[in-house]
Amino acid sequence: MIATANGAPLSITGLGCNVPERVLTNAELAELVDTTDEWIVTRTGIRERRIAEPDEALSDLALPACRRALESAGLEPTDIDLVIVATVTPDMFFPASAAILADQLGMPDAAAYDLSAGCTGFVYAIAQGYGMVAAGLANRALVVGGDLLSRITDWSDRSTCVLFGDGAGAVVIERVPSGGFLGFELGAEGAGGVHLSIPGGGSRFPSSAESLAENRHVIKMNGREVFKFATRVLVSSAETLLERCGKTIDEVDVYVPHQANVRIIDHAAKKLGVPSEKVVVDVERYGNTSSGSIPLALADGSADGRIRPGALVLMTGMGAGLTWGSALIEWTNDTNGATR
Ligand code: ACO
Repeated sequence: MIATANGAPLSITGLGCNVPERVLTNAELAELVDTTDEWIVTRTGIRERRIAEPDEALSDLALPACRRALESAGLEPTDIDLVIVATVTPDMFFPASAAILADQLGMPDAAAYDLSAGCTGFVYAIAQGYGMVAAGLANRALVVGGDLLSRITDWSDRSTCVLFGDGAGAVVIERVPSGGFLGFELGAEGAGGVHLSIPGGGSRFPSSAESLAENRHVIKMNGREVFKFATRVLVSSAETLLERCGKTIDEVDVYVPHQANVRIIDHAAKKLGVPSEKVVVDVERYGNTSSGSIPLALADGSADGRIRPGALVLMTGMGAGLTWGSALIEWTNDTNGATR
């Protein structure tokens, strides 16, 4: 799917993030599995990640992020009539975490649902939020991206457990006088889904003693295949969207790719021709936080002053599905200060 934004201008007017306090270092992981800080840093760029407390669920992590996003937009909870939560680790199968959050925030008139698109979830969700507001079905959308991948990680599998962390972010999408979203490009290659999945817990392999014994409830990943997919789609999706929007890569001020592995980010930036000073990278501090990754990176780009009103920002995510998605936006609001 590809489309340019043709109607009234809509933008991200508020941004908030939240990560757990607990830091898990590479050195601690080396006590858990057969790995080293040197291997993890060289192969992934990750130095540490945040891990939620045992009693914290997604909505607990996302709630402060939502409050910060509303504060940053200068809005009251009752101004929001749509909540979309992108996640693969909702509090529970149902009710949706979006409904839980809408209740906790005090949004009695909001429609609320969750969306599953792996690490691409946040980009899918902002496209959805954009579409609903652009079509007039909603006035203002609160879009949340967040995951507690620590809950679905196999802590005995060294090839995956070093990669993931917990975190959440939220944005407000509403009408603005000018600027804002220029377009979206989203896609999915279901045939590759087998390379990154949690087979158990759904209707294929329901929770059962056998399923648990087979260890089906944790992330299974073919790292090499996902790596190849990621390096391909990060480039093709961004190039396709830029061309459709009539923009060149040189016009992009800030590039915000999904934070999975610094080698994937470096490869994509090099292929696209984006200089490193335009690339937001925080994977060394958070690891891969799935749907939380792009909003956390937006917050970091805002905090360091690169993402500011007038900046052309390109985001691209990729992940389970296998899915990918890009969004191009001319940033309109000062989102620094209320991020974390
Ligand atoms: N410590 C030490 N050695 C390790 C570790 C570890 N933590 N993990 C794997 N190894 C070993 C392997 O066993 C292998 O050993 P062998 O050659 O004796 O078999 C060797 O290191 C090399 O393994 P590779 O898989 O080839 O390592 P690679 O350089 O490809 O890096 C990685 C692996 C980091 C997983 C990489 O493939 C990657 O980043 N893939 C993409 C992951 C991704 O982007 N996921 C995003 C989506 S996540 C989501 O949607 C939830």
